Amino acid sequence: MLRNRDADWDAWPVADYLAENYRRLHRADEAVIDHHSAVYARIPAGSLDRTVELGAGPNLYPLALAAAASRLVHAVEPSAASVAYLRGQLRDGPDPSWDPFYARCRLRNPALPPSLAQALSRVRVTRADAFRLPEGRYALASMNFVAESATEDPAEFAAFCRAFARTVRPGEHLVASFMENMGRYSISGGREWPGVPVDSQTIGEAFDGYTMDLVVSRIDADPDLPDWGYTGMVMLSARRAV
Ligand SMILES: C[S@@+](CC[C@H](N)C(=O)[O-])C[C@H]1O[C@@H](n2cnc3c(N)ncnc32)[C@H](O)[C@@H]1O
Repeated sequence: MLRNRDADWDAWPVADYLAENYRRLHRADEAVIDHHSAVYARIPAGSLDRTVELGAGPNLYPLALAAAASRLVHAVEPSAASVAYLRGQLRDGPDPSWDPFYARCRLRNPALPPSLAQALSRVRVTRADAFRLPEGRYALASMNFVAESATEDPAEFAAFCRAFARTVRPGEHLVASFMENMGRYSISGGREWPGVPVDSQTIGEAFDGYTMDLVVSRIDADPDLPDWGYTGMVMLSARRAV
């Protein structure tokens, strides 16, 4: 069983991952954007002092989604490869392939700034580990395809979810998405990465006890995405219990 520390996250294949997942907007991306936008759109613009994207990887749309509600978005990511990509996107401007993603974000939340570059100006990239973040620092935490895609140990998956929830202050917002029923996976036929099969029930149980207003929903697997052996995606919104 591979655990989180067993994988060489610095070697994450950023170019292949982007090519497989994010070169164009898929139905599944629209579903995640729509789900998260419904949470963000209820939060007054500029009212959150600081928010976090845990395990940001090279994915820009979750960072952009936060840019209306949040005055400062921390992209927390341990992988040198993904950190280098994110910093390049912030410095040189985002790749045009992200434009359709941002158009969908703005469609669902018109309070977002006109351009993706403006949205990303609120982002700061930090090379760090989810398990080493200070408790209660943020007004909102977001995590997309991380806890179940970074370990094969169900207990460590649950610990990831707990660490994620602890980053926000009591009563504050959590928004997340997960691959459903995906085990160990590879990207473009390369090396294997740890994954643990989870579903709505496992996820609900992992968040039970320290959250409130927990809402979990799911969509079926997107036939236009590679077949990683998953059955769908699960989306979550909640608040940390007071
Ligand atoms: C499947 S990728 C998801 C990336 C991105 N969130 C997305 O939506 O595409 C899993 C991510 O989890 C990150 N990760 C692995 N271990 C982590 C840890 N201990 N703390 C924070 N992030 C971690 C990896 O570096 C990788 O970027």
